[in-house]
Amino acid sequence: MQTVILENLSKTYPNGKQAVRQISLSLNPGEIYGFLGPNGAGKTSTVKLLTGMLTPSAGRCAVLGTDPAQNPAKAHENIGVVTEHAQMYDNLTGLENLIFYASVFGISSNDGKKRASALLEQLGLQEAASRKLATYSTGMRQRLSLARALIHQPKALFLDEPTSGLDPESAQNVNQLIRELSENEAVTVFLCTHQLRYAQEICSRFGLIENGRLLASGTLKELQEKLLPGALLKIRADRVPDDLALTRNPDNLYETQILSDEDIPAIIRRIVETGGNVYSVAAERPTLEDIYFSLTAENKEEQV
Ligand SMILES: Nc1ncnc2c1ncn2[C@@H]1O[C@H](COP(=O)(O)OP(=O)(O)O)[C@@H](O)[C@H]1O
Ligand SMILES: [Mg+2]
Repeated sequence: MQTVILENLSKTYPNGKQAVRQISLSLNPGEIYGFLGPNGAGKTSTVKLLTGMLTPSAGRCAVLGTDPAQNPAKAHENIGVVTEHAQMYDNLTGLENLIFYASVFGISSNDGKKRASALLEQLGLQEAASRKLATYSTGMRQRLSLARALIHQPKALFLDEPTSGLDPESAQNVNQLIRELSENEAVTVFLCTHQLRYAQEICSRFGLIENGRLLASGTLKELQEKLLPGALLKIRADRVPDDLALTRNPDNLYETQILSDEDIPAIIRRIVETGGNVYSVAAERPTLEDIYFSLTAENKEEQV
């Protein structure tokens, strides 16, 4: 069963701004889906639709079979959400905050405490557990907000820019936890970010959005094959014959654009057969950033 479904999901704000335009998408259990685009692309609006904080202007969405606009309470049994501005209580400790939110979900204080302690440890917050939230740094607050989102063991987790205020070590804690949830508990993760390199590291599939539109969706391999096929072949070799027309860089490094890996053996054979030596061969595929920029450039050309 698909856990998160968007069907022609659209949102136009009362001022006329079309923030989300006919997005259709479905996610599988355990998938970490990167929803990627620059500021203003429509990521936060989409998360708000998926978590029942906004109602769609057209289309629909469902999380574990429940429409969050129609039945927010039921949808939230399965939803954990981390937004940019999570509200928690400054005068309570980290642990007390989590126990409070556990009780909101009807979890007993004993179970809530156990679950809270485990999450605090996983997120590297055990030492801060008995400190008031008022003394937490931004990064600590962000991690506590993730713990809060997970207190009732949701099956779908919505993360809006989850590592934006985190130092690298805290970001590692968060990433580790996201991976474990996906692998061990089949939690579906919908992760919004404008940091494409970060997304490439952690997500298994990607949606690229701009101006409210989903421009492309797929695994990195699928996006590469569909949008920027081939690779940049880099060869370190000597006595390379001129007729191969490779671009020569310093240090006997040669490169050329190839359309498929099938082109590689013939090039290497030709170098070796004409008396050259090959020291290294690498085929560099386009990154998510390369793909995003080629896609948005294409889109701009079409709009002109
Ligand atoms: N409440 C609102 N009323 C009108 N326009 C809004 C509102 N919230 C967001 N927008 C606009 O909708 C677009 C998408 O915003 P948002 O979903 O926050 O994008 P992102 O999270 O990708 O940065 C932006 O142009 C933003 O200015
Ligand atoms: Mg946003």
